Amino acid sequence: MISLREPRIFHGYEFYTGVVQFDLEIMPGCRGILVSTHTYVHERFRNMGINTFLQKVKNRIAKENDFSLLLATTRRDNDPEVHILETSGWKKIHEFGNKKTYNDVIFWVKEVK
Ligand SMILES: CC(C)(COP(=O)(O)OP(=O)(O)OC[C@H]1O[C@@H](n2cnc3c(N)ncnc32)[C@H](O)[C@@H]1OP(=O)(O)O)[C@@H](O)C(=O)NCCC(=O)NCCS
Repeated sequence: MISLREPRIFHGYEFYTGVVQFDLEIMPGCRGILVSTHTYVHERFRNMGINTFLQKVKNRIAKENDFSLLLATTRRDNDPEVHILETSGWKKIHEFGNKKTYNDVIFWVKEVK
């Protein structure tokens, strides 16, 4: 079981090794949602299935800690990440142009089951 005790001031979960990292941050204003951010796999270890596996880890952390939804954003041109999210149960909710960065961004949601 992956279960992390919530300290008094608690913003989410951070996972970092030299090979992979991701953060799951509690959505401000709604403690039923985790926002998945800062996912990164070291260049030497890409295309080996690590991020695909991390999808299961994130879902398990969310499920075992009673969260209902995962949210994420990606750049539309991030082909590997878009492919992974499309094939691991995430739904595209909205696409928009980020006025600050001029990136085309996809907004994703996944129900925690
Ligand atoms: C995106 C990232 C996390 C993927 O991690 P990874 O461990 O290499 O991913 P996986 O090996 O689990 O899966 C890669 C998948 O993308 C596919 N893929 C790789 N290059 C691709 C491309 N150019 N277009 C489409 N799909 C591609 C692979 O075929 C594989 O899919 P498959 O298992 O169905 O064959 C990694 O590339 C990374 O750290 N990038 C920089 C940071 C980043 O972009 N983070 C996401 C921010 S939203």
